[in-house]
Amino acid sequence: MTTTPSPPREIGLRSIRVELSTNPYPILIGDGGLSQLGEQLLAQGFRAGTKVLVVTNPVVQEHYGAQALGSLQDAGFDAGTLVIEAGEDQKTPATVALIHDACFARKLERGSLIVALGGGVVGDMAGFAAATWLRGIAVVQVPTTLLAMVDAAIGGKTGVNHPGGKNLIGAFHQPRLVLIDPATLATLPEREFRAGMAEVIKYGVIGDAQLFGELKAAATRDPSAGLASQDAVGAGLLQSLLERSAAAKARVVAADEREGGLRAILNYGHTLGHVVETLCGYGTWLHGEAVAIGMVAAGELSLVRGLWSAEDQRRQREVIAAAGLPQRWPDLDPAAVLSCLQGDKKVREGRVRFVLPTGIGTVEIRDDSDSAAILAALERCS
Ligand code: NAD
Ligand code: GLY
Repeated sequence: MTTTPSPPREIGLRSIRVELSTNPYPILIGDGGLSQLGEQLLAQGFRAGTKVLVVTNPVVQEHYGAQALGSLQDAGFDAGTLVIEAGEDQKTPATVALIHDACFARKLERGSLIVALGGGVVGDMAGFAAATWLRGIAVVQVPTTLLAMVDAAIGGKTGVNHPGGKNLIGAFHQPRLVLIDPATLATLPEREFRAGMAEVIKYGVIGDAQLFGELKAAATRDPSAGLASQDAVGAGLLQSLLERSAAAKARVVAADEREGGLRAILNYGHTLGHVVETLCGYGTWLHGEAVAIGMVAAGELSLVRGLWSAEDQRRQREVIAAAGLPQRWPDLDPAAVLSCLQGDKKVREGRVRFVLPTGIGTVEIRDDSDSAAILAALERCS
């Protein structure tokens, strides 16, 4: 039986394309998007009757599972749900094996589809399961955290952790569609919202001065909390921040899908942020909080090295403060910090590569920061 796809409603949905040379895909953003999941899949060329496995976690299932499944079934998909445990410590090959078991039990075929409904943990694992089941089936990302909406769901990095380090096992596997419904953020804890805001700020500093300007305006209105919660940000600004962030990530991914060069700028704040996560112990700081500290520290390093101005660093700090994010470098042994930097994935021939800001909206990738400059920068934000 063939089914003619009905035209998508796209009510209030803004579409941004990830313009890859092969298999470009849309990012659809708008309140109510989740209820359009089924019809948007038909619009992307999936046929009614296709088997769909929705992968989610208990919290997201409770809030949004029925809506997602209902939309898929109403559109004629043969859909079922797998609920996996939440948490970074669950991001393991063993959990991916559970997803594979569900693929087997539901007899998913080459033309079948996995829908990742959740934050970055669900998205990375469901994406990796899709990349590996039958050597690759389609995945659609439906992110429900701010961090996943602006970063993890876009760009095709999928994977799990190894005891030796985060995300060491993985594959590039681009989604067929990213569907972002900001209304799902209503239930997200504020701390998680703020962590996602760190990645939004990142896009402003690395390449979008206009986005930074929008953030700065909110920060100026309320320096201590203007960006710290959904209520403070408001629906209009949130939609704009989501669109600009998604577009920023889409541009970088389209230009450098496999991180041969440019894509590394997305790691702004992550090199030193990763040190904070590792040395303070995973779970002490959320990823986005560590990135905020890392951006402040990278800004100080730029300042120490004369690459950008004190005024730009002040503006960056102001926006990070308005998002309620931490800025202070923790009390860490300098030798341990330098040693941890040497273990970073971005080290080449013993030289640590930092993404360093040169102005609001411009960065350089530099591997010529010596230990004295790094420690002086960290001292300035301790
Ligand atoms: P997460 O997936 O752990 O979600 C954070 C918490 O929010 C969880 O407890 C989750 O249950 C809960 N949650 C999710 N949506 C909710 C909602 N709408 N309402 C209420 N609670 C909700 O964390 P995250 O910050 O989304 O993602 C972090 C992960 O993403 C890390 O594993 C990181 O490595 C990965 N990541 C991947 C990429 C990439 O390019 N693939 C980029 C950045 C981060
Ligand atoms: N989060 C970094 C990247 O997608 O490359």
